[in-house]
Amino acid sequence: MATHTVIAATQTAAPAAAPRFTHRGIAFGCDYNPEQWPRETWREDIALMTEAGVDLVAINIFGWAQLQSADGSFRFDDLDEIIELLHAAGIRVNLGTGTSSPPPWLTTRHPEILPMTADGTRRYPGGRQAWCPSSPVFRAAALELVEAVAARYGRHEAVALWHVSNEIGCHNAHCHCDVSTRAFREWLRDRYATIDALNQAWGTAFWSQRYSDWNEILTPRETLSTRNPGQMLDYRRFSSDALLDYYRAEAAVIRRHSDVPVTTNFMVTAHIDALDYATWAADMDVIANDHYLDHRLGDPHGELSFSADLVRGLAGGEPWLLMEHSTGAVNWQPVNPAKARGQMLRDTLVHVARGADAACFFQWRASLQGSEKYHSALLPHAGPDSAQWREVRELGAAVAALDEVQGSRVVAEAAVLFSWPSWWATDAENTPSSAVGYLDQVHAAHRALRDAGITADVVDPESDLTGYRLVVVPGLHVVTDAAAQRLRDAVDVGAHTLVTFFSGIVDEHDRVRPGGYPAPWRDLLGVRVEEFAPAMPGADVMLASGGRGRLWAERLVATDAMVADRFADGPAAGMPALTRRTGTGVAGDAWYLATLLEPGAYAMLVARIAEAAGVRQEPGAGRDVEIVRRRSDDGTTWRFVVNHGADAVGIAVDGIELITGATVTGTTEIPGGGVGVIREEARR
Ligand code: GLA
Repeated sequence: MATHTVIAATQTAAPAAAPRFTHRGIAFGCDYNPEQWPRETWREDIALMTEAGVDLVAINIFGWAQLQSADGSFRFDDLDEIIELLHAAGIRVNLGTGTSSPPPWLTTRHPEILPMTADGTRRYPGGRQAWCPSSPVFRAAALELVEAVAARYGRHEAVALWHVSNEIGCHNAHCHCDVSTRAFREWLRDRYATIDALNQAWGTAFWSQRYSDWNEILTPRETLSTRNPGQMLDYRRFSSDALLDYYRAEAAVIRRHSDVPVTTNFMVTAHIDALDYATWAADMDVIANDHYLDHRLGDPHGELSFSADLVRGLAGGEPWLLMEHSTGAVNWQPVNPAKARGQMLRDTLVHVARGADAACFFQWRASLQGSEKYHSALLPHAGPDSAQWREVRELGAAVAALDEVQGSRVVAEAAVLFSWPSWWATDAENTPSSAVGYLDQVHAAHRALRDAGITADVVDPESDLTGYRLVVVPGLHVVTDAAAQRLRDAVDVGAHTLVTFFSGIVDEHDRVRPGGYPAPWRDLLGVRVEEFAPAMPGADVMLASGGRGRLWAERLVATDAMVADRFADGPAAGMPALTRRTGTGVAGDAWYLATLLEPGAYAMLVARIAEAAGVRQEPGAGRDVEIVRRRSDDGTTWRFVVNHGADAVGIAVDGIELITGATVTGTTEIPGGGVGVIREEARR
């Protein structure tokens, strides 16, 4: 194995003028793993891809063991042939660097690259992604492969996009080996410069944790008691940065050989919180995401819409690529339901409605062997004579009918604030209530907006919010000074806001901001919370209005706000549960909600605030019906209607329905389970 100098992140950030991903229309595609199939299958694959309208295919995602032998030599003939076959069929290639999983010869020769868990045990190879993010040995080997792949295909006409590794950090984000520990110390030195500054930041006066030397610091390994929250938060940041640094190193090699855009597939999803994608987004030439419905959640489709809006937020409102989703069941949840007939189209359209310019799947042909043999695919085990395949062909045609939507932007007048550090800190050890999960709060707020027919961008709290009419801040626990100011700025210029409990409690080091919660927004909201009083599981609190609060109550004073509702019983009986600061000297209304409302009541509250804020609520939208608009620069608008329910819904709209090509005027019926994408002409 040749040795490479490890490339430092600072040398390798994305070029100033990043190449853009361009494609004719909305891309329709999949992961393709031809190495799992005999050659004879390849031609049939390409013919069927053409039949279905597939035009973007991700290959070489797990190619390492095929490409490089134990003696270090490379063999590209199969990959050459696949690329030529795809190219000849006019199918563009999303080329994996192949580094996602090291081959057994590498982990056998270099067991030190294997990751170590928090209990100090190594994880063995035999699955995938068995590598330590900070390992220079792994990086050198991986970059040697990237160099070879990029040099060979960097100028190939078929290559439309580079796909670095795969779902970086899906399994291996948190390593505790000695190499990672040393890298963590270096990261901390860069951040704090002195050990005293670190002691301050982490509050090590507590429990005799004061450090006198950098070498005393460990990654937060398993302990007998709970661990230092500041250390935990920094370790999360470090782990995310270590993998970003790794991404940059691969991207830098590719860029020496290719002008084609570079990206990797994010996992903006409910069950993976490893990476702070807000810090990754600027490095991507185009944002790409993988999304799978999670049936372990109470509301999988609510999470789908939320995820898509968050991915768009990461993309700064620009279109993004749905790199993977599934035609049917996955194989990694306890029970993996099949999709209902028509659901594949509905789910795909939700992503496109919310800004995706590509609808791609994992994977092309269902595997016969390996851990994913029961995962759905475009081409199922049953083969082309199947309802699944016929639906895939219909989907290909439907996606092609939407081509003109490509490049347009989603229209959103509202924002929901979201941050990974808040997720990490809220779901940490020793909080007031382990029943309060960050995502539950964020999903509930997003769902209330969706039910009220309001499209929201999900954005970073430190971004400019002054363009929004309504900013919802659900349980944003960690608030930096900069983020605190951003919300105040938006309200100053007229945005209305709704802040919910457990927001604004700690700074970026997880240190409580004193003087009454939520310290950075006490004046903005006109409230002062003196004490948390969470509800015991299942014990709702009644509200004076007759509604119910869930999970949480707190003892607060309305210092400069009207009380819109009160706790009627429970630990905060008689105290405000919902407040509104409005009137003289206040540009936008500032609402504070001290409990979690039931879905219907939450949507009504959001609708009421939105109305005062002048935010459009889509007529016809509701719990079962999603309506989202995309708009092009020339003012053409496409209204996406996705009816998840059983009953038809009437939508007043004039234009052309793209999938059927029908002209629609007056009130259009979207049947139960149906969809519509209606082009409304530019309003000039
Ligand atoms: C992820 C991975 C794929 C595959 C799918 C299965 O998205 O990137 O390789 O494992 O999950 O759902």
